[in-house]
Amino acid sequence: MTAYQKLLQALPEAPKTWLVTGVAGFIGSNLLEHLLKLDQRVVGLDNFATGFRHNLVEVQKLVTDEQWARFTFIEGDIRLLEDCQQACAGVDYVLQQAALGSVPRSINDPIATNATNISGFLNMLVAAKEAGVKSFTYAASSSTYGDHPALPKVEENIGKPLSPYAVTKYVNELYADVFAKTYGFNTIGLRYFNVFGKRQNPNGAYAAVIPKWTSSMIHGGEVYINGDGETSRDFCFIENAVQANLLAATAPDSAKNEVYNVAVGDRTTLNDLYQALRSALAENGRGYELNPVYREFRAGDVRHSLADIGKASEKLGYAPEYRILDGISKAMPWYIEHVG
Ligand SMILES: NC(=O)c1ccc[n+]([C@@H]2O[C@H](COP(=O)([O-])OP(=O)(O)OC[C@H]3O[C@@H](n4cnc5c(N)ncnc54)[C@H](O)[C@@H]3O)[C@@H](O)[C@H]2O)c1
Repeated sequence: MTAYQKLLQALPEAPKTWLVTGVAGFIGSNLLEHLLKLDQRVVGLDNFATGFRHNLVEVQKLVTDEQWARFTFIEGDIRLLEDCQQACAGVDYVLQQAALGSVPRSINDPIATNATNISGFLNMLVAAKEAGVKSFTYAASSSTYGDHPALPKVEENIGKPLSPYAVTKYVNELYADVFAKTYGFNTIGLRYFNVFGKRQNPNGAYAAVIPKWTSSMIHGGEVYINGDGETSRDFCFIENAVQANLLAATAPDSAKNEVYNVAVGDRTTLNDLYQALRSALAENGRGYELNPVYREFRAGDVRHSLADIGKASEKLGYAPEYRILDGISKAMPWYIEHVG
């Protein structure tokens, strides 16, 4: 039995209270769904900056009434310390997901990204420390590797950030480390690599590539590839990211005050991704015949990204169950139903 399978068995037998910030967003709402299905108590905090009430409504439909009754939602803002304090009261495990994502958003409005991702994050650290939570797991990012050329990415070798967003995610790691040194408050940072799956928003200028292209293809629109299409990413299906969060939150102290790559260890180019999405649509009876439109490289983008997941595997027992094609097959029917 894997570490995750053991955990999935143990959690319902001794339910805990979890705080998921950013609970109305993509990753947050998937964490909520899994935790409620495991009979956990969940407090959720969100200000709907980029998340949606309909994500919460969808989760409600996927769990029993009894499970849903274990969820408390606080409409609040991590930029306000008192909202963070209210949310952290009586909590065992914090999963800090709330942030303004997107590299281009941060280039267009670095002040807004900084306010939530740095000041808000610091409020959450302070509130969680004061509340004496058992663990604090936070969403870090592969963008922290910045201009470091080495592949695969190993946690200790990072370069300089390439965007304001990357700066904020790196500052999260610095604050987390300083909280361990000065207050003995140990945290775990999960450097997500291009997470994808159901409930990831396909709309707007800042949408991520998989939901954006999937939605365009479903509607028969153009797919734009920034650059030559040979830019590569280590796409990580949401179920793997959920696994990493649950393992991190319940990890022994020896695994804390660390950051971990959360990915698969597979490298997929944008050209390959385009073909994979087209095939998955065809398997669902939807043809897409247009060729992609190539345009300029986008500012702030890292050229290649591929994770070494050895550290997470060794210290957290992380073993991703889905590779990119498995994840796309699982996610595609959801996109067809909800976007089509
Ligand atoms: N999706 C990815 O591939 C990826 C990669 C690296 C890191 N991350 C990080 O993972 C986390 C979750 O990302 P996501 O993809 O689910 O994005 P998302 O935009 O779907 O979710 C973020 C949630 O945080 C909420 N939020 C934003 N500002 C807030 C504030 N001031 N107070 C309270 N709530 C606030 C939003 O309303 C939203 O519901 C973020 O920290 C993001 O930076 C995501």
